[in-house]
Amino acid sequence: MSGNGKKNGKGGAGLRSHEWFGKADRDGFIHRSWMRSEGFAPDVFDGRPVIGICNSWSELTSCNVHLRRVAESVKRGVWEAGGWPLEFPTISLGETYMRPTTMLFRNLMAMDVEESLRANPIDGVVLLSGCDKTTPAQMMGAASVDLPTLQITGGPMLNGKWRGTDIGSGTAVWQLSEEMRGGRLTLEEFFEAEAGQSRSNGHCMTMGTASTMASMSEALGLAPSGNAAIPAVDSRRYALAQLAGRRIVEMVREDLRMSKVVTRESFENAIRVNAAIGGSTNAVIHLLALAGRLGVPLELDDWDRLGHDLPLLVNLMPSGQYLMEDFYYAGGLPVVIKELAENGCLHSGARTVSGKTIGEDVAGAKNWNEKVIRPFANPLKERAGIAVLKGSLAPLGAVIKPSAATPSLMKHSGRAVVFENIEDFHARIDDPNLDVDENCVLVLKGVGPKGYPGMPEAGNMPLPPKILAKGITDMVRVSDGRMSGTAYGTVCLHTSPEAADGGPLGLVRSGDRIELDVGNRRLDLAVSQTELDERRRTTHYPTAQFERGYGKLYVEHVLGAERGADLDFLVGHSGALVARESH
Ligand code: FES
Repeated sequence: MSGNGKKNGKGGAGLRSHEWFGKADRDGFIHRSWMRSEGFAPDVFDGRPVIGICNSWSELTSCNVHLRRVAESVKRGVWEAGGWPLEFPTISLGETYMRPTTMLFRNLMAMDVEESLRANPIDGVVLLSGCDKTTPAQMMGAASVDLPTLQITGGPMLNGKWRGTDIGSGTAVWQLSEEMRGGRLTLEEFFEAEAGQSRSNGHCMTMGTASTMASMSEALGLAPSGNAAIPAVDSRRYALAQLAGRRIVEMVREDLRMSKVVTRESFENAIRVNAAIGGSTNAVIHLLALAGRLGVPLELDDWDRLGHDLPLLVNLMPSGQYLMEDFYYAGGLPVVIKELAENGCLHSGARTVSGKTIGEDVAGAKNWNEKVIRPFANPLKERAGIAVLKGSLAPLGAVIKPSAATPSLMKHSGRAVVFENIEDFHARIDDPNLDVDENCVLVLKGVGPKGYPGMPEAGNMPLPPKILAKGITDMVRVSDGRMSGTAYGTVCLHTSPEAADGGPLGLVRSGDRIELDVGNRRLDLAVSQTELDERRRTTHYPTAQFERGYGKLYVEHVLGAERGADLDFLVGHSGALVARESH
């Protein structure tokens, strides 16, 4: 069967799809005949590239609900360029609805994307994503097939509006709910903000995980320049989608496969861009997993090494003040990329889906609002990259986002207040008798990949009401879970190995001293080795248990957060080669 698409010759020879539609035999009859049932004119079989439009549209993924319309724009462009667009669905992951957490299913969606691409007569693909996990899942699946690939994200919602101010997706939820728990807002007032926060199609409009991953796709060269910030309802997103439809047909003819675009240089660019935009810590996990698919060497420490000394340029919530709509009007991600390139912080020669270099793509970018996108010489914060912590509490690493943390807590030693799992946390956090003060360190176990399972965004634990009542809004928190990209605080995440995988986090007890020193990249448990050895003999932190199904597969095969939490047998790639003929 066919391998990757090659520049097509006469009648489509060399294209994967030719193996289905170009055959002068019984199989060719079958493949063409069933396509004719869809009412296509016969000249679609003339050897033109077949472009799959991989759509994560779903009414259960609110952030992606407009992607059918985006797909129509992509199709226009594909037809114009002489291709044949065929849209298909995969499972979709609605961040706010799926239980126990969408992260459990990211790898399942990646499998769906991978197998759908490989099994079908597709020469090139446009990935349509939006909500948090849909973007990395599509990238991971497509990487393992390695067709010419281009990604269009759905774009952010318009700015949230409430009581005369802008409010940001997610960030407003965390802020307003803490106001309510602290007694400064009624429940009715809190609910009033719901509709104002989410008032158009699109994904979260803070620099949360969806906006971050859209920016990562653009920085990696996989999404067209300018894609990330265009609001979902702005007509220019649909024009961009049409142009993308034209471009993917050319990419097939050029055999510009994903592995030729997304390289080690692209990952280094993405890590630096993530620092400059104040991007989500979730990008760490997703890009490590993506690199694993592509066979690009990338380690957790690369995030710190490449990004830690970069300034925060983008003044967006949760690290700053504005929202994605403002970011777009200020010039969007091309301005940030150009700023990094002009200051020697970017591989300007990295290739993108445009066929040009990323430096060429952004050459014409202009900053229209320096309050939103700060110049390199006058950043919002001097050092913004994700810090990777190591130490006796995190032998394989933990991460913290300094730009979203409280400076005075970046070096802190405190008494641990331990919650054994999320149920324990919910049962006790509001208890007025909880033995806690603002100098304590809140510790949550059992929210890693194997423990929960699926590594939920539980790391930014809400503070105890009696602390909030004092007007205190941040404490040091440590867990093996993740944090929503819209959240903030002095929160140590992804602690590895996780408690359920034998990590020292599982041995922490209330009253232990925990020492955080972000400057020296340390996260330590001040308990003697002898004591820890004794605890290890008598303590076994449980993994999640499944009798059957995907949950069982996941728990048995998921890798640690420091390796991107992919399934061990999904790491790497198999190309587009189909194992056996079907007929
Ligand atoms: Fe979909 Fe935030 S819930 S991007």
